[in-house]
Amino acid sequence: MGYADEVFDLTDRVVLVTGGSRGLGAEIAMGAARCGADVVIASRNMDSCVAAAEKITAVTGRSALPYQVHVGRWDQLDGLVDAAYQRFGKVDVLVNNAGMSPLYESLGSVTEKLFDSVVNLNLKGPFRLSALIGERMVADGGGSIINVSSSGSLRPDQYMLPYAAAKAGLNALTEGLAKAFGPTVRVNTLMAGPFLTDISKAWDIADDSFGHLALQRAGNPPEIIGAALFLMSDASSFSTGSILRVDGGLP
Ligand SMILES: NC(=O)c1ccc[n+]([C@@H]2O[C@H](COP(=O)([O-])OP(=O)(O)OC[C@H]3O[C@@H](n4cnc5c(N)ncnc54)[C@H](OP(=O)(O)O)[C@@H]3O)[C@@H](O)[C@H]2O)c1
Repeated sequence: MGYADEVFDLTDRVVLVTGGSRGLGAEIAMGAARCGADVVIASRNMDSCVAAAEKITAVTGRSALPYQVHVGRWDQLDGLVDAAYQRFGKVDVLVNNAGMSPLYESLGSVTEKLFDSVVNLNLKGPFRLSALIGERMVADGGGSIINVSSSGSLRPDQYMLPYAAAKAGLNALTEGLAKAFGPTVRVNTLMAGPFLTDISKAWDIADDSFGHLALQRAGNPPEIIGAALFLMSDASSFSTGSILRVDGGLP
């Protein structure tokens, strides 16, 4: 094993990725499996979860459990946790990645339903999953929780205000959970800037849309993997309660 392989090794660790069927979550799950982890792929669409899980096993030979769940629904999360522990006996890494930001015309047009669904998925679900799994990680002697946030939580604009507020809450959750579950379990925020996933299909992208970033472009989904592997593995053993920005140098 080379030196870098050792530092980022995840052999026989179990990594649960919400929203692991597509986009950044699929990249993170595949990256973890390539480093030796077994994975749980959880999202609403079971066919997508099965397809992503089969691909991971075909490419890496690792086990991958697909699981259908709506992360914004509190009462569905115990089932996800039970399924993961029944199948693998432990969870070493939880990646709270599932998230979304629906478009709206104006602040006045935001309905209570839209607001609640955004907060439920981006904040409430990660809180509940972290509580359920974090306490078990502490009892088991270790673990890492990664909350996938957005640069919008630091630079909110009027077109995604409920989302920005929910992700800002997620940032706060990271710090509080790091204290609550330390010194045994580490909790960090992986803060994404603009990435060209399905989310970006709704954007009105012009030639100069990303000119204000130091790198002057949006990210390609695989470019999240290195930072995620850092936070998942022992490479980040002295990082907790932190925010790691992967945003192309957003001002
Ligand atoms: N892409 C960006 O530019 C960007 C920027 C900043 C932050 N982020 C954050 O990065 C994370 C991943 O975003 P992405 O761009 O990869 O999104 P994406 O391509 O739209 O994928 C979203 C994933 O989440 C799952 N999902 C959506 N709603 C769900 C729900 N209610 N319950 C369970 N799973 C659900 C989806 O699967 P199903 O449809 O099957 O449920 C899918 O696997 C999100 O938290 C997002 O806020 C992204």
